[in-house]
Amino acid sequence: ATYTIVTIVGSLRKASFSLKIANALAKMAPASLKLDVTTLHDISFFNQDLEAAPPADWLRFREKLQKSNGVLFVTPEYNRSIPGVLKNAIDVGSRPYGKSSFLGKPVGIVSNSPGALGGVSAAKHLQNILPGISGPILGQPEIYLNAVGDAFDEKGELVKEAVQKVLQQYIDAFAAFVEQQNR
Ligand code: FNR
Repeated sequence: ATYTIVTIVGSLRKASFSLKIANALAKMAPASLKLDVTTLHDISFFNQDLEAAPPADWLRFREKLQKSNGVLFVTPEYNRSIPGVLKNAIDVGSRPYGKSSFLGKPVGIVSNSPGALGGVSAAKHLQNILPGISGPILGQPEIYLNAVGDAFDEKGELVKEAVQKVLQQYIDAFAAFVEQQNR
């Protein structure tokens, strides 16, 4: 079987490392996984006043999640947490109450940073946010990619072998997890 994974990129930046990592993962994923790399530019602000007649962009995002077999977050850390655009998208996907579009979906988290700590605080915050609204989160292996600043060439290709290796290990483990959860 082929499993579709909504791969949510936590940065809107054109040259985003998170986006490059998501694209690299899409290329190295085993044949059983199709990574649908999804940026959050067009998701409007969550506002409870709009819930009775939700904007089309919310409905599109929710439907995409519902049709998927899993969700992979690839995100930077902003001020020791997740970027606001990512929290907004999670809030949008989590509603209406009790009908989260993430429900039952196996989740993977790939935090990253050009700095030393690999966005670990962002990943930990996601682990706090998600359990009430999603399926299970892959616990092992963990991945907090640090020093990603020199991992890509000017064409956006992943050139750092150590990064390539851990990403491959992660996506293989995630594929096995998704398969198990979708059985
Ligand atoms: C950052 N950055 C950052 N890095 C980190 O490791 N821990 C942090 O808490 C923060 N905080 C932070 C706040 C804000 C507002 C910005 C703009 C940046 C640096 C961040 O890791 C760096 O800009 C990444 O390149 C952002 O990810 P993308 O856009 O490359 O995916």
